[in-house]
This record gives sequence, C-alpha cells and structure tokens, in this order.
Amino acid sequence: MESINIIDAGKHVDEEVVIGAWLTNKRSSGKIAFLQLRDGSAYFQGVVIKANVAEEIFELAKELKQETSIKITGTIHEDQRSHFGYEIEISNIEVIGESDEYPITPKEHGTDFLMDNRHLYLRHQKPFAIMKVRNEIIRATYEFFNNEGFTKLDAPILTGSAPEGTTELFETDYFGQPAFLSQTGQLYAEAGAMAYGKVFTFGPTFRAEKSKTRRHLTEFWMIEPEMAWMHQEDSLELQERYIAFLVQNVIDHCAYELKLLDRDIETLRKYTQLPFPRLSYDDAVELLKENGFDVEWGVDFGSPEETFLANHFEKPVFIVNFPKAIKAFYMKRHPLRDDVVISADLLAPEGYGEIIGGSERDTDYEYLKARIEEQGLSLDEYGWYLDLRKYGSVPHSGFGLGLERAVTWITGTEHIREAIPFPRTITRIRP
Ligand code: 4AD
Ligand code: MG
Repeated sequence: MESINIIDAGKHVDEEVVIGAWLTNKRSSGKIAFLQLRDGSAYFQGVVIKANVAEEIFELAKELKQETSIKITGTIHEDQRSHFGYEIEISNIEVIGESDEYPITPKEHGTDFLMDNRHLYLRHQKPFAIMKVRNEIIRATYEFFNNEGFTKLDAPILTGSAPEGTTELFETDYFGQPAFLSQTGQLYAEAGAMAYGKVFTFGPTFRAEKSKTRRHLTEFWMIEPEMAWMHQEDSLELQERYIAFLVQNVIDHCAYELKLLDRDIETLRKYTQLPFPRLSYDDAVELLKENGFDVEWGVDFGSPEETFLANHFEKPVFIVNFPKAIKAFYMKRHPLRDDVVISADLLAPEGYGEIIGGSERDTDYEYLKARIEEQGLSLDEYGWYLDLRKYGSVPHSGFGLGLERAVTWITGTEHIREAIPFPRTITRIRP
C-alpha cells in the first residue's frame, strides 16, 4: 500500500493509502469519530465508522489525544463540504508517539502564549500557511534572479562596518576586537557586482532598533540584488517586475494557503499590474500637506504617512529621490541638486509600509571618502569598499527587499513576527 502526503489526496480517490499524521482535534459520537489530521503538507479530516472497523480501532480513535502521531490506513473520498475537498475513511490506526496535555488547545490563546510556544504553534494552520507562502517567495526569488542572469553571492554575517548607521548595531567580541552583526550585505554585494556583473545576497541581517512596531524585527532576512552598469531607472523596472513575479507565483502556487489565510486573490492580482507609480519625495511631502499631515521637507516618513501614500495609489508606489541627510552615505548624488539622492523606497499598499529600500550608488572615490568621514565611520573599515571606486568604478544600482515585510504584506498578516519561524524583537529572543 502506498504512503502518501495529505496534499496529494486528490490523486488517490477511492484508493487505500497510508498516511503518517498528527491529530489536531477530534469529535465522536457512539457510531462515528471525526479526526482532524495534519501531516505538514495540508490539513484534512479522517472518519472512523464504528460498524466498519475492529472494535479496538474505534475505541482507540475515541481516546486519541491532541498531537499524538499516528499512522493511518484508509480510503480517500471526495468531500465537497470541506475547504480541502477530500477526506479519508480510516480502517486502521497505529500510534507512533503519544502526546498528553498539549498546551495549545483549540480554544483562543493570547499572542504572548502562542509566541512562548512558537516551537509548537508552528504546527497550526495560520503559521503553516504563512511559512508555506514564505517558502514560495524564497523559491520564486531564486527563480527570478537565476532567469535574469544573477549570481547568488553570500555576504558575511560578522563584519567590521556599519553602513546603515551606527545607532542600530549589535556588537560582539571577536577575539578581542569589536565586531558587528551585519545590517546589510550590500557593500559586499557591490564588490560582487564589480566581479560578476549582477549578484544578489540573501541572508539574515540585524538591527538593534528600539522600534517596537508591527513592522520591525531585530533579526530579519534580506534579499539584496546589486547590478553593475545599471542606472536607477532600470533598477526600478527590475524591482517592479520582481515584486509582480513574487505575487504571481504566490497566487499560482499557494491557492490552498491563501484560502486558509482568507487572503483575497483579486486584491493580490492588482499588485501584478505594472508599472507601479513613481512619486518624488518633494511631491509626496506636498501631497501629505494637502491632506492635513504635519510634515516638513527633510523628515523621514513615519507609518501614518507611508500608509496614506500607499493607499492613495492602491498599488505599491515608489517614493524617489529622498533628502540626502536622511539616507545612507553610499547613495548617488542627484546631478542637478545637492540636497537629494538617487534613491527609492517601495511602499506596499494596505498599510504594510516600506518593503524595498534602494538606490544608485555614488561612484566617486573622493566624494565617498568625505561622506564616510562626515558620518563618523572609520576609514580603516571602508578602505576595501573605496577600492571599488579606485579600480574601474562603473555606474551601479541595487536594492534590498525585507523578506518578512514582503511575507506580511502578501499574506495579509497583521504583525511581522508571524512572518518568520522564530521571531526576534526587542522583547523576544526565545524560543
Ligand atoms: O532600507 P534598508 O535599511 O536598506 C538597506 O539595508 C540597503 N543596504 C538595501 C540595499 O540597497 N541593498 O532596508 C531594506 C529593507 C527595508 O525596505 C525593509 O523591507 C527591510 O529591509 N527592513 C526591515 N525588516 C524588518 N525589520 C527591520 N527592523 C527592518 N529594517 C529594514
Ligand atoms: Mg529603508
């Protein structure tokens, strides 16, 4: 008899199969027991009919406790009433691992309790669906950049530099010297672009941000493409095609998960329609002022401003050319203005905020050296980076997509902590 995964039930209608599963819930009457089952691929129902099985199997079914692991034998049937479409009529049950007093009962639990039990909560439907979408976004990312001729380049996690600002660093002792957990792979990606043309890094990044918001993690994963010989306009065009590709692949490959999450596919479909609007920072400030926001030219936008701007367009929107003073040292100067840089943030609709930050990079040795000194960064740490401007400097651009921000938005989840298996925030480092 064939062992299958629940997700493949539709290929085995009216066949007898074996499934290794866990019990998530059950109810029974004198004649029939309904077992809710999961196996990591999907969730569905098993039915045990007293009249059709041995006496001890029916008794066992009634006694099973939540999260007991079992091997079941049975016949797959169509079941139009369930969201999954199939169920299994069980003929035999073998207990593999007992479970007693599983803490996450079917009743409602608070967020802290669920996060304290994250190692178990991952088994439940909402985290399941979110992690599968996260996995699809990662898969589609590799597909997209491979198709575009990029080379994946792994940046180090332990570094001596602080490209995104010194106030948000995690410091650690590195054999008597200070080292920092990486805030970004970008500077290494720039070295990679000068070596291999188009590269992307994808790894964990760390920010000791004191922000306690539903968009901030202290450890998050970032995808950072970097393209030699590319100006900002072409980078924006690549960014929007990448985002549309991610959304389209989630629609195509995660229909079951989106259903579990109650995420409306028609809403998602709007985000695959290109182009995304571009709005200059200057115009964004004017638009905000006209709509009653108390903002001055030169400030960074907070979450209410970002939400307003994105909702104004009902699609992701690029805010381009930010004030130089609020952006990182490496961003390219505007050719006609000294106060802005050639940068863009992509804001997601529905209040999900900035999902991409990027820019064209300045190529001039003396300018960057001065900027590094101005920001109080150590020239010793950036000598290697300045070398990239010394030996065949070329126009180049890049950007960073926050994976968890993208997952939160595409799945329609309220809080970013749901978008990573084991979240790290200012108040949580366990489990
Ligand atoms: O805008 P950021 O800081 O840009 C960079 O780090 C550049 N070096 C990227 C590049 O050009 N290669 O971060 C990029 C993205 C943000 O748009 C956001 O999606 C995400 O990373 N991000 C965070 N996600 C979760 N928690 C945080 N604390 C985040 N900080 C940034
Ligand atoms: Mg940013």
